[in-house]
Amino acid sequence: MSASKSSGVTTKVAIIMGSQSDWEIMQVAEKTLRDLGIETDARVISAHRTPERLTSFLATAEEEGFEVIIAGAGAAAHLAGVTAAHTLLPVLGVPLPSSDLNGWDALLATVQMPGGIPVATLAIGRAGAKNAALFAAAILARSDSAVRERLGKFREAQSAAVPERPE
Ligand code: RP5
Repeated sequence: MSASKSSGVTTKVAIIMGSQSDWEIMQVAEKTLRDLGIETDARVISAHRTPERLTSFLATAEEEGFEVIIAGAGAAAHLAGVTAAHTLLPVLGVPLPSSDLNGWDALLATVQMPGGIPVATLAIGRAGAKNAALFAAAILARSDSAVRERLGKFREAQSAAVPERPE
């Protein structure tokens, strides 16, 4: 799905990931946003394997209408940090457990940004992908009352699904 204004589509959240192999986890973010009625544009963009794809995407991301970028990567995960360096859009980083270190490497690489270029880092793996989507929705909800309402309903349903006693 394109976010291009010329197509009339108002996709506000980009989901980028370093490898096709990251999609299994990152599609949790896509599904979470879809369930909230928020369209996404998911792309495989590697900071080290496709650096030009990253810079050309970021050169026009804001004017195309994106408001938040979710970046998932594993191993020496510099995707979120490099992304944040090239844009003023908020960048939410999801460390992925794709290496032999099970995400510890990606967590530290994503969260330990030197002061000046922030990356909001979520949990490793599926929980991080889900929470990145919910965080993106919370950002959009500041200026979109329909998203705010759907986010509130999601919270209510989540609370209602917790049993009073174990079943
Ligand atoms: C990172 O290296 C990617 O984000 C992925 O998590 C990891 C492994 O990528 P592949 O070798 O599976 O393509 O850049």
